[in-house]
Amino acid sequence: MHKIPREELGIEILNVRHDFRAFDCNDADLNDFIKNDALKEQRILVGKTHVCLWKNIIVGYITLASDSVRDKSLEEDYHISCCTYPVYPCILIGRLAVDKKFQRAGIGNFLLDLAIGLAFDGPIGCVFLTTDPKEDAIKFYEDAGFISMEKKKGKRDPHRMYLDVAKAIIELADKTTRESLDEWFRGDLPR
Ligand SMILES: CC(C)(COP(=O)(O)OP(=O)(O)OC[C@H]1O[C@@H](n2cnc3c(N)ncnc32)[C@H](O)[C@@H]1OP(=O)(O)O)[C@@H](O)C(=O)NCCC(=O)NCCS
Repeated sequence: MHKIPREELGIEILNVRHDFRAFDCNDADLNDFIKNDALKEQRILVGKTHVCLWKNIIVGYITLASDSVRDKSLEEDYHISCCTYPVYPCILIGRLAVDKKFQRAGIGNFLLDLAIGLAFDGPIGCVFLTTDPKEDAIKFYEDAGFISMEKKKGKRDPHRMYLDVAKAIIELADKTTRESLDEWFRGDLPR
């Protein structure tokens, strides 16, 4: 499918009026979750689902929850130079799915960028986005810059991945914003 221009995509927080009966992302668990469980889980604040619409059609969703990551699970070359905590705050991408009729149109990346923006601009500190991708989605996350976490014995665990929010937001920004973000992350200027 051709790429859908981002200005044509909208986002709403899941509510009772969203009708997912026709939604099919080719994954039974993710279809079942959005049709039967997402609203219940949102009511008890386990995960918040953001619904993506195009011309009033539901084309995808992303469910976010808070998470943390242990310092030891990160890549060896990764360091947060100014502090050392045993765990760092994260946002977990609990679920992400795009209707099969709209896959490869840029909606998955649009929803990822939404999560990056929320992580950066939200009122709570968030160093990483994390996810436990299904096998078929690993390439999608790798292409977006996610890396696999180290297993305790040094082997990579392909089922747990993370994205550094600071690096991601700089890559998403235009040139002027990027310069001010560089200064923000180096500590030269208030944002
Ligand atoms: C994985 C998924 C969310 C991707 O959404 P999408 O809207 O199709 O992704 P995008 O169009 O934004 O793709 C962005 C890039 O990711 C990569 N990508 C996406 N789907 C891919 C696939 N099936 N195989 C290989 N690369 C893929 C490509 O680099 C793609 O860029 P390109 O189309 O310019 O080549 C969607 O395919 C989906 O819902 N799959 C079924 C459910 C699922 O696996 N969800 C993830 C749960 S962890």
